[in-house]
This record gives sequence, C-alpha cells and structure tokens, in this order.
Amino acid sequence: MSNELYQQVFENNRRWVESKKAQDVDFFEKLSRGQDPDFLFIGCADSRVPANEIMGLEPGDVFVHRNVANLVPNTDMNAHAVIQYAVEYLKVDHVIVCGHYGCGGVAAAMKSEDLGQLNGWLREIRDVYRMHSKELNAIEDEEARYRRLVELNVQEQCINVIKTSWVQRSFRARGFPIVHGWCFALEDGLLKDLKIPFESILEGIREIYKLD
Ligand code: CO
Repeated sequence: MSNELYQQVFENNRRWVESKKAQDVDFFEKLSRGQDPDFLFIGCADSRVPANEIMGLEPGDVFVHRNVANLVPNTDMNAHAVIQYAVEYLKVDHVIVCGHYGCGGVAAAMKSEDLGQLNGWLREIRDVYRMHSKELNAIEDEEARYRRLVELNVQEQCINVIKTSWVQRSFRARGFPIVHGWCFALEDGLLKDLKIPFESILEGIREIYKLD
C-alpha cells in the first residue's frame, strides 16, 4: 500500500505539471528565473499544516521554514539563516509565525515526561509556559489552557524573530518586514490572526535587545 502511494506521487507530479502548464504555458520557465516571495512562513512540521495550501498561494509566493512546534530558539542556526536570508536578501514584507491548535509538540511540553532528545527542544515551550504561568494557571479548563499556550508560544516566537538584528535593521530602513502571529485551526481549516502588536513589541524589546 505505501509502495503504491510512493509510485502515485510521481503520477500526481506529472498531472500537476500539466495542470500548471494548462493555466500558464510559461509557468515553469518563470519559476526557474528566480524567486521574489512576499512572505516568510515559520510553521509547525505537522503534516496537516501545508503553508502554501492554507494561504491559497502558489510556488514562488512563500519562503517556508518548519519545525516541531514552530520554534525560533536563539541557538538555532537553521531558523536564523532562514530569517536572515528572507529578510536581507529576499526582502520579504511579512514574517509569519504560524502555530496550530492540536499541536503535538505543545501537548508534549505540557506533560511531565522525560522525552529524551526532545526535552531540549520542547523546553522552549516550557519556558513560554513559565513566562506566562500566571495567566495559564488561571485557566481551569485543560483544553482551553492548552489552546492558550499554543497562542502564547506563537507570540513568544514572534518576539524571538523581532529580536534579530536583521528584522530590526530592515524595519528601520524600509518599514518592513512586519511580524505576524497566526494560529491555524485543524477543526475548520481557518487561520486566526492573533494581531500581536508588532510595533509596540519592537519598541519595547529594543530597550534590551537593540542590535543596530
Ligand atoms: Co504542531
């Protein structure tokens, strides 16, 4: 069965190529010339959160970075290389950190369990819990508390993005990128903009994290 699915992928690919060409004969010729995306999307690696698809956008429109629970840890060279490239070279106008309700990474971080290699990674989320423990502990319903942690994790990862010198410098120079926090709901497929106050966060953190 899984072998059949594997073969099916190539068949799907050929059909996709035909459908793209039917819409625009030069589609791949244009694609091969280069990219100029407006968005950097930092999302969860979860298979149910396909960046382009949920945004209704095409190849070339979104620069994407995904990992377990959409984290931007200070020491993550991969995430930071992506952010620097997207901001300084691709000059994206919008950086989106997109979490999702039903996130296994966030759920795991809420359990008292030794998860081996994952401990260090998930500690980023436990740190978010610690920073917001007053608000979170006041929520009695466990599901509601979990959903709020998903949102607060997005907010804190947005702050991690805003702490970078590239974002600070670029925003001062050209008023972009704007950093946004979103949550995707698996139950109905809808994106929720958390409307994080980007400019006031930027203003606030520059007291300590000013890098330019
Ligand atoms: Co997830």
